[in-house]
Amino acid sequence: MSVFPIYRPRRLRANLNIRRLVQETQLSVDDLIYPMFVVHGENTAIEISSMPGCYQYSVDKLVDAAMELASLGIPATILFGIPESKDSHGSEAYAEDGIVQQAVRAIKEAVPDLLVITDVCLCEYTDHGHCGVIENGEVLNDPTLDLLVKESISHAHAGADLIAPSDMMDGRVGAIRYALDEEGYDHIPIMAYSAKYASAFYGPFREAAESAPQFGDRRSYQMDPANVEEALREVALDIEEGVDIVMVKPALAYLDVIHQVKSEFQMPVAAYNVSGEYAMVKAAAQNGWIDEKRVALELLMSIKRAGADMILTYFAKSVVEWLDH
Ligand code: PBG
Repeated sequence: MSVFPIYRPRRLRANLNIRRLVQETQLSVDDLIYPMFVVHGENTAIEISSMPGCYQYSVDKLVDAAMELASLGIPATILFGIPESKDSHGSEAYAEDGIVQQAVRAIKEAVPDLLVITDVCLCEYTDHGHCGVIENGEVLNDPTLDLLVKESISHAHAGADLIAPSDMMDGRVGAIRYALDEEGYDHIPIMAYSAKYASAFYGPFREAAESAPQFGDRRSYQMDPANVEEALREVALDIEEGVDIVMVKPALAYLDVIHQVKSEFQMPVAAYNVSGEYAMVKAAAQNGWIDEKRVALELLMSIKRAGADMILTYFAKSVVEWLDH
């Protein structure tokens, strides 16, 4: 009789309890950040057609949604604002009574424990839809920094718990860190979109946030999907500039980037499971082609396995339900 291999891997897969003991990666409610969109108006919740189950909320409805997150035990939300009017310099982004500023105040009053992260960018607020100041068709870096700083300070002033710059201008983490400290906000962490790629997966978000560029694309400031060394350089720069949490975005087509960033740096890593990644799963599930729960949990687990410590995901609320049942 031939000698059977001594080691039989199936021994550790035989039943649920042994599988629980040897499970290497955990996905939990502790890992989740739920993105939300806020618009002017009252008693409004407009479903985003390309993101079923996600809404543009007026501030009052957003507060209800924030309460729901807290009751589900989700630690944090990240807010995106849709202003009433747009202009070349995105002035609603740093207005005292801007939509995000109103939203932060209302949530912090009603649900003080829920962490409120604010996305700092200009594309939702500029009439041209780019993430910075434009001159002769170019997005200018350094003049944009002044506006991002103003936006960050006004978010902090409104009560934001974390500031999340998503613009991809050079030097913005340092500029924002310096200004926050000057203004007495040295306790507010920065979660930077450090490695943010020029991705087609943001399509549904741009419908949700009404932020599609009116000309050209974002390739002069967001990263080329082909590059990973560049991502590591971006992360290293953000660390030098004082970042607290680094983010890779999108997540699923960039699991290798998440893995390398986590292996290379001793930093908390966030991954953004973006709108297009969510929409694909939703669409396939609505067609009856895949099992939404199993596919979504498998994808989110893969993001954790790659090395993410936390995930920004439109599935957050569903995940809590799924993990409870
Ligand atoms: C703003 C911003 C974008 C996303 C987050 N912040 C869009 C973009 O860069 O065009 C995308 C999020 C998603 O697709 O879910 N700059």
